[in-house]
Amino acid sequence: MKMNLSVSVRALLFAATALALTGAGAARAEDPVDAATKARLDAFEKGPATIDISKYPEALKDNYELFSQKCTQCHKLSRPINSDYVLPDEWSRYVKRMMHKPGSGISSSDGKKIYEFLVYDSSVRKKTKLDEKLAKASAEDKATAEAAIKKVRDQYDAK
Ligand code: HEC
Repeated sequence: MKMNLSVSVRALLFAATALALTGAGAARAEDPVDAATKARLDAFEKGPATIDISKYPEALKDNYELFSQKCTQCHKLSRPINSDYVLPDEWSRYVKRMMHKPGSGISSSDGKKIYEFLVYDSSVRKKTKLDEKLAKASAEDKATAEAAIKKVRDQYDAK
């Protein structure tokens, strides 16, 4: 009787550990999202998974490397590449959100470089979408966004 009890306690502990392990693995791969979000994310992921950076400033190439390494740990790079985000504010918010996911391993200095890459890239490759969003923004938000873009462009364009 005593032995049976300890066996079942051990079995229970084993099951709990297994559950905790699978739980952690699943969270790292993909948090559960609602159907509409999943459809949007799937559509982004069907697009190109690389960016032609041959005409981008030399100094930005390390940032792209970092982006390609850090942002492919949980999903394809095509997800951010084809997403609707273009505004500095959107990228700042999203890079932080990704940094804070468990196990992301993205330091704040990596995050800053990735943010700068995404802001620069959006001002070139997604210019039409960016202009559309700027046109709809309030005068104040537009000015803030333009200043943030200029800051990044000035930092990299000269090099
Ligand atoms: C630790 C895992 C993890 C890492 C690392 C990660 N992501 Fe994500 N990403 C997710 C998950 C989970 C989602 C879906 C849920 C969400 O949006 O929070 C997601 C969603 C996204 C989306 C889609 C948002 C939307 O709803 O349209 C973008 C864009 C994105 N990630 C960009 C990035 C970028 C850029 C990086 C690198 C800085 C990155 N991700 C790194 C896990 C990660």
